[in-house]
Order: sequence, then structure tokens, then C-alpha cells
Amino acid sequence: MAAAQIRPLVAGNWKMNGLSASLAEFGAMKASAAEFAGKADLMICPPAILIALFAATAKGSGLIVGGQDCHAKVSGAHTGDISAEMLADAGAVAVIVGHSERRTDHNETDAAVKAKALAAWRAGLTAIVCVGEQLSQREAGATLKVVGGQLDGSLPDADKSSDPVSANLVVAYEPVWAIGTGLTPTPADVAQVHAFIRGKLTERYGDAGAGVRILYGGSVKPSNAGELLTIPDVNGALIGGASLKAADFLGIAAVYR
Ligand code: 13P
Repeated sequence: MAAAQIRPLVAGNWKMNGLSASLAEFGAMKASAAEFAGKADLMICPPAILIALFAATAKGSGLIVGGQDCHAKVSGAHTGDISAEMLADAGAVAVIVGHSERRTDHNETDAAVKAKALAAWRAGLTAIVCVGEQLSQREAGATLKVVGGQLDGSLPDADKSSDPVSANLVVAYEPVWAIGTGLTPTPADVAQVHAFIRGKLTERYGDAGAGVRILYGGSVKPSNAGELLTIPDVNGALIGGASLKAADFLGIAAVYR
């Protein structure tokens, strides 16, 4: 699939931010979603308890809703956890798995992330699988080795009977040291890692891997979006802090308008 045929995805990860009153900010995003029809997909991943409210509000607007994490199992005795099926039932169409904050705060391994990605597929959700190196690993020249290992361990094998990976898989490259710090890699560094990820995806999934969206995440703002999102093999963004305000989120998405 040629790069020009990949429709970018601009996804906001609200992390542990937002209350029911945030519906107003979400509503402002929804009001502009139609401007991006056919040009980019716009998604917000709010805290799980807001998914049903947001998804019902956004219905038909073009703005879509995702989760931030899921349990690998369908149901059971797992207090406090939420299954992919529950997210889908609430109106989510995707779920982030393996975010570095989950990997760190909850000791999630590549194997756990892979199980969650498979759970997403089982529930009919797109899995947004996150990878990225720590600062010490970058400084040691180990970025590609780390990211390659995470991809090998976290990406599920494609199930021929399900949707192609170009539709149900997204990879987000988020250098851990760029998250919430205002720091970003150079465009050349982003280009290198994204080209490497593209190579891994086509090795793993054949031609379908060429259509998987690879997002960049880490301190994306309206002021740097033009530079970061036009790098080859950058097919959108995963945005934290700047996705909380409609003006910033839409200002980033405006690269594709
Ligand atoms: P920031 O955009 O706040 O750096 O967060 C990025 C991120 O972790 C998105 O998942």
C-alpha cells in the first residue's frame, strides 16, 4: 500500500484526566470532526468510565472513541479490570495496549501486551500497540534493538480469518523520554525508527504490514506537528497532554486538513 493511501490517525490519550464535565471539550472536538472526513481519523481515548458517554455523544460525527487498556480475558474474577468486550460494548472501536506507563506502573511484559492485543482483536477492536525506548537505551545506541524486541514480543500473529492488520492494528512509537517532557527526537531519528518499524511490519505481515498505521507520540503539539507528522512512515500521532484541549488537538490534526 502506498503511503498516500494510508489515512492518518490522530489519537488523543487522555490518561487519568477528565471528568463528566469534560464532555464540553469533547463536544468542541466533535463539532470539527467533519472537516477531517476522508482525510484523517480522529480518536479520543478517555478514562474508561467516560467511554459510553463520549461514544454516545460522538455517534455519527466522525470522531471515534477508544480505551486506554484492557484485560486479556473476556470476563472473570479480576477486580477493577475491564475487558476488551466491555470497551466495545461501551462504544469503543480501539484500545491502546502496552503504553509505557502501563509497562512501568503495572509491570506489563511484552507477552502481556500481546495477550491484550489479541483480546482487542477478539472483541473486534483495533489494537494500538505502543513501543519506545528509555533515555538510557537511546544513549546506549540500543533504540532499534529495544523497539525491535518490543515489536517481536508484543505484536500478535495475524489471524487470516479476521480483518487485515492494516485495519485492526496500529503501532505507536513513543520514546519514553519524550512523553510529557517537551522533548522530541530529531526528525531524522523519528524517520529512522519509523522506517525500521515499517520493515518489521512487512517482514511480519507481508504486504498487509505496509498499510499498518505507525503513529508518533511524545510531546506532540500544534507547534511541532507540521514537522513531525510529515516525516515518511509517520501516519499520525498519539497525543497526551495536548489532546485535553480541543484547540490543541484540532491544531495538531490540522496538518491533515
Ligand atoms: P504527551 O503528548 O503528553 O507527551 O504524551 C504522549 C503519550 O504518552 C501519549 O500516549
